Amino acid sequence: MSQPASNDICALHDIPDGGGLEAAPSVLVLRRGGEAWAYRNVCPHFSIPLNYEPDAFWTYEGGLLMCAHHSAMFRFEDGVCVDGPCLGASLRRIPIRIDHGRVMIEDESIT
Ligand code: FES
Repeated sequence: MSQPASNDICALHDIPDGGGLEAAPSVLVLRRGGEAWAYRNVCPHFSIPLNYEPDAFWTYEGGLLMCAHHSAMFRFEDGVCVDGPCLGASLRRIPIRIDHGRVMIEDESIT
């Protein structure tokens, strides 16, 4: 039996539709339907994780992620803060692709 590739971080369906999952240490993956985006789980406001509890990410309408600390709001698709104390700042993007229902990080050195 073959082992999963080291850049294979989760199945797309492991991520709640319209929500987020910390799929690898400090790697947050957001999903809307068949699309997904990955970012470092670090808020640009205070450089701390965006969540208080494991995998408890607060999202709205499948399009915005809210930091649990001071309520900065980030767009799923580009990680830009559109409201809150770090308006205009961005989450750090991690390039991914979806391959046969699996979320794969493009650069294995990131994991
Ligand atoms: S630490 Fe995220 S909004 Fe302040």
